[in-house]
Amino acid sequence: MSRIKIDEARCTRCGKCIRVCPLGLLKGDANTATYLPSSGDAVCIACGHCLAACPRSAIAIDNVAPEACEVADVPLPGFEDVRRLVMRRRSMRLYQQRPVPKDEIARLIDAVRWAPTARNNQQVGWVVVMQPERVREAAGQVVEFLRARQEVPALTSAWDHGYDMVLRGAPHLVIAHGPAETGWSATDCAIALTTFELLARSAGLGTCWAGFFTWAASGQPSIAEALGVPEGHKAYGALMLGYPLSAVLRVPPRKEASVHWV
Ligand SMILES: Cc1cc2nc3c(=O)[nH]c(=O)nc-3n(C[C@H](O)[C@H](O)[C@H](O)COP(=O)(O)O)c2cc1C
Repeated sequence: MSRIKIDEARCTRCGKCIRVCPLGLLKGDANTATYLPSSGDAVCIACGHCLAACPRSAIAIDNVAPEACEVADVPLPGFEDVRRLVMRRRSMRLYQQRPVPKDEIARLIDAVRWAPTARNNQQVGWVVVMQPERVREAAGQVVEFLRARQEVPALTSAWDHGYDMVLRGAPHLVIAHGPAETGWSATDCAIALTTFELLARSAGLGTCWAGFFTWAASGQPSIAEALGVPEGHKAYGALMLGYPLSAVLRVPPRKEASVHWV
């Protein structure tokens, strides 16, 4: 069955959907309502650009009616607002110990569904570690992974002295995973986590990339599996998460962008 359904009665043959289809799959002209030939159905990635462009709400995708899709009529935040959000996103390494409500985290993950994925495959999955004890347990496993390989002695030594440089005592850990060995999983997960991080900042939460965790989870997949990353999937990135204890009072400098204009 076709992923795209076009309501012929509503279609005005304006051709807007045909022009925005990234794969050029839709057909039709001034006399024929738009249609998706069967040859195109297997190729269609259901990105929804046709639905988004149709002024007559004539296109449904995967049986989701256009009326069920959010109307894009509220003005977007301006450049300055988004710039400020990007510049004031910081790695938070000091967290309050009060938990972040599950609903709040779910709200962020829900919004990340609209972050781009290669071929619109939408295969990023999440593991959210809600229990601080489980986060600490994972940090301990990362320490032992590094210790066994004699990596980052400062980190293992800090752990032995009661300081967690791996997950910084964060109450939660948010892991993004995707099918292992597929070309774009790592990129899709990085985009998803980056989007999550910005949303979290806008919601008053603090995050920090958990690079040591990702390193260890890659070298010793049992660490991720124990937390529920499914078989065949790999943890491509993770964020510590909690309510921040520290404030961002100034924006520190960064290197000039290296750009070659052609
Ligand atoms: C892929 C990646 C892995 C990171 N891993 C860690 C980590 O394991 N622990 C940590 O404290 N910070 C980690 N960071 C945070 C960086 O140190 C931080 O982004 C950088 O110093 C810039 O600071 P800012 O994020 O506050 O702007 C990581 C960042 C990235 C992008």
